[in-house]
Amino acid sequence: MSAAVDFDALKHAAAAALPAAYSPYSGFRVAAALWNEDGRIITGVNVENASYGLTICAERNALAAAVVQGARAIRGAVVLCSGPTAITPCGACRQVLAELAPDAELRCDGADGTELRFTSAELLPSRFTFQP
Ligand code: THU
Repeated sequence: MSAAVDFDALKHAAAAALPAAYSPYSGFRVAAALWNEDGRIITGVNVENASYGLTICAERNALAAAVVQGARAIRGAVVLCSGPTAITPCGACRQVLAELAPDAELRCDGADGTELRFTSAELLPSRFTFQP
């Protein structure tokens, strides 16, 4: 049986990861924390590049780390940023969330106290799928 998602623990983990963001170009830090069915927490931050288009968002870095760690079955996610208001995952991250965390509940929190809640399916209805 999988443990209920501990969103407070996820928020703390994302806040702890936030200073590690590498964002010298935008100055905007983002952190994501994931909760898998074993209660494992996996974090990611945005990593920018001088060739701006190579930037990888916090959400996709966290999802890639989860795959590396064998932490499938992502049930919950929290996204935090250094700005005052909550942000929601970009389109590219929504597609990757839909693939690697289709059953996740997401909470996007702002320093101003705002919290937005979504499921992965709500963020990207009719996602692209491919059957080789
Ligand atoms: N960013 C994320 O990490 N996640 C998102 O969902 C949206 C944007 C990052 C990318 C870039 O480093 C900075 O925020 C500004 O776009």
